[in-house]
Formats: sequence, C-alpha cells, structure tokens
Amino acid sequence: MPDGQNQKNDGHNQTRHSTTEDDITAAVLARFAATPDPRLKQIMLALIKHMHAFVKEVELTEAEWFQAIEILTEAGKMCSDKRQEFILFSDTLGVSMVVDLLGHRKPEGATESTVFGPFHRLGSSDLAPGGNIAHRDTVGIPTLVSGRVLDLDGKPIAGALLDVWQTQSNGLYDSQDKNPDELHMRGKFRTDAAGRYLIRTVRPVNYPIPSDGPVGAMLKATGRHPMRPAHIHFVVMADGFEPVTTHIFDRTDPYLESDAVFAVKESLICDFARHEVPPPQAAGLGIAGPVLTADFDFVLKPAGATAQVDVLDAQRRLAALGARG
Ligand code: BEZ
Ligand code: FE
Repeated sequence: MPDGQNQKNDGHNQTRHSTTEDDITAAVLARFAATPDPRLKQIMLALIKHMHAFVKEVELTEAEWFQAIEILTEAGKMCSDKRQEFILFSDTLGVSMVVDLLGHRKPEGATESTVFGPFHRLGSSDLAPGGNIAHRDTVGIPTLVSGRVLDLDGKPIAGALLDVWQTQSNGLYDSQDKNPDELHMRGKFRTDAAGRYLIRTVRPVNYPIPSDGPVGAMLKATGRHPMRPAHIHFVVMADGFEPVTTHIFDRTDPYLESDAVFAVKESLICDFARHEVPPPQAAGLGIAGPVLTADFDFVLKPAGATAQVDVLDAQRRLAALGARG
C-alpha cells in the first residue's frame, strides 16, 4: 500500500479503497519529507507537486510519456563538446530567462541581463579600442559599437572589461563553422579613463538556433520558428560591480517580437545608424565605404555583500558538461 493511501475498517470486513492518483502524489511527497537539506526538500516537494499536477491536468497517456522519454534520450545523445540540447530546451521553453531574471534583479537604470547562450568561448584576444573582431568577415557592413560603462550615478567606470561575441555574417558562430578551433568574432575591450569603449565589427544578423534535433522538432510541431533577432553578446565587468551578461539588439530586426529564446528586453534594443560617408572615427580606422554606428551605455550595479559569483562560471559549467572553451 502506498504511504498515505486511505484504508477503512468497518470492524467486520476490511474495505480497501482503490488507489487514486492523489494517493500516489501524497505517497511520493511523504517519501521526500525527510530530505535533510531544506532547500533540496523545498525543490523536490514543489517539483513532485507540479509534475504530478501537470500529468493529471493533461491526462498524459503512456504513449505520450514514452514519447517524452524518447525525446529526452535523443536530447542526451545530441549533446557533445559543441552542442548542449538540454540548454536549448531550457532556452526555447523560456526557463533560462526566468532563472536569469530571478538571479539578476537590477535596480532602475542598471543594464538588464539576458541569456548567456551556448556560444561564449574563453580565451578571446584583448583588443585595443577600435580593434576589429570581424577581421575575417569580408561580407558584413563595417560597424562601430561605442559607448560608456557607467555606475548607477552616471559616473564613468575606467578599466571596465567588455567580453564581446557575435555570429559572422553567415549567421554562424566560429565554433559552428569550417575551422571551429579558430576564434573569430570575439574580443575583450577595456574602457578608457572616461569610461568609453569602441568596438569594430560587422552588422549583426539574425540567425536560427540549432534546430536539427529534438528542440527543432518541438519548435516545428508547435508552429514556432528557430530565429533569434540580430544581436551582439556582452559580458561587462568591473571591480566592485556586479557583472552583467547581456546583448544589444538591432531595432530594425523582424524577429524582435518572436525571439526563439525570449531574450529581448526593450532596454537592450539599439539603433544601428547607416552612414554612406564614414564619420571621422570610422575614417580614422581606415573604413572607406558605408558604415553603421551604434551607441550603447552599460550601467553596472555595485557588487552585493554576498560572495561574488564569477559571471564566466556559466562558461565553466558548460565546459564541465563537455563544451569546448
Ligand atoms: C545565442 O544567442 O548565442 C543563443 C542563445 C540561446 C540559444 C542558442 C543561441
Ligand atoms: Fe547569439
């Protein structure tokens, strides 16, 4: 008899109730009730409660449950040093963004965070202001991204580090392309004494997240597309401040309203202005033809009293899952 199952005894004949779904839920909850770690106990009890409620609400069939197990098995088989299908599930189900919001509450005025994504790599080069992260991309329109890193009072932060990454004009990250070992479209920049930074790149493009696995099948079956709006990734950090993992998005992108991973926030949308004649700063970098400029200030919140979590822990966690740096 499951723990918590009802049993009645009228004194003469013992009458047993048929086991109900709720009896099973109660039995499972009771079995986890002695979990010594209070946080683990809270998580396991809520997980069981919601998972059982979900199964009961949709009256999940055995065939559907088996299909779910097949999908998870296939997701596991797809994971490699270059691919993390479970993170893609988390991203496309919106869970990554909810976890990100819960973990990175920002005061008014601080730059909002968004998903880290699976394509950050450790080991990109330190570049001088105006350094070109797109040195091998001969297709994209040259683009200068500039701005300041500021504190909440608007004071510039000198020496802040900006770790930047982006797809090439073909919509692929370096790790997805022909020479996956070569770093491209990545760099680290430092702000000057006035808190200013200057990055040379090419116009970001929209691109599909990997959709040849179970996540792609889920998107297709539910009438969703795999596209992400054009963006550039940043991790911005400075001593004494909480690092921010974020993107800037191109305001003209048609996928801003339907990002496959729900990562767009209004405050991160940015104008990429086109100049037929390069402005002096672009001309000074040897850019001859049309150029785009985008201006974006990052505002950091002071580090909290609690132990600082290194933002690149996310990359290390990916590495622990088998991803390559
Ligand atoms: C990205 O922007 O690199 C990304 C984020 C989430 C899932 C896939 C890709
Ligand atoms: Fe991206």
